[in-house]
Amino acid sequence: MKTLKILVLNGPNLNLLGTREPEIYGTETLASIAKDMNACAEKLGGVELEIHQSNAESDLITWIGAAKGNFDGIIINPAALTHTSLGVADAIKAVEKSVPAVEVHLSNTHAREEIRHKSLTAPGCIGQIMGFKGHGYVLALKALVKYLRG
Ligand code: DQA
Repeated sequence: MKTLKILVLNGPNLNLLGTREPEIYGTETLASIAKDMNACAEKLGGVELEIHQSNAESDLITWIGAAKGNFDGIIINPAALTHTSLGVADAIKAVEKSVPAVEVHLSNTHAREEIRHKSLTAPGCIGQIMGFKGHGYVLALKALVKYLRG
């Protein structure tokens, strides 16, 4: 079985998880989410994760653009950039054929302010998981591995 390399990307303010509006985003930190994802990857077998967070749009665009040939799939929570960044959306589109992406949101953005209802990034992704707080990342990992292994 080929080892799958999955890139996990987190956008602006997700470094504050745990203390940031916990009633919306839950109390898990990015570190505890990473721990849960790594445990899941180990259980699945043959899955390696590389996890990043940045508050800079350009970092996300650069990481996505460099994924082709280096990663089999992407799990991304673009955070506020979901609703604003044509740059991140274009980057996902640019690699979608070779590096499929799953979009994750901790909150159910459709149940929030109208500006959060529209995702510019979702059309380039194979699917979206939202509303399950930190556990959504583990669900996304399972879904992406299943998609890649068929
Ligand atoms: C978020 C939802 C976005 O609207 C928001 O800007 C975030 C987090 C989520 O995971 O629920 O920063 O992507």
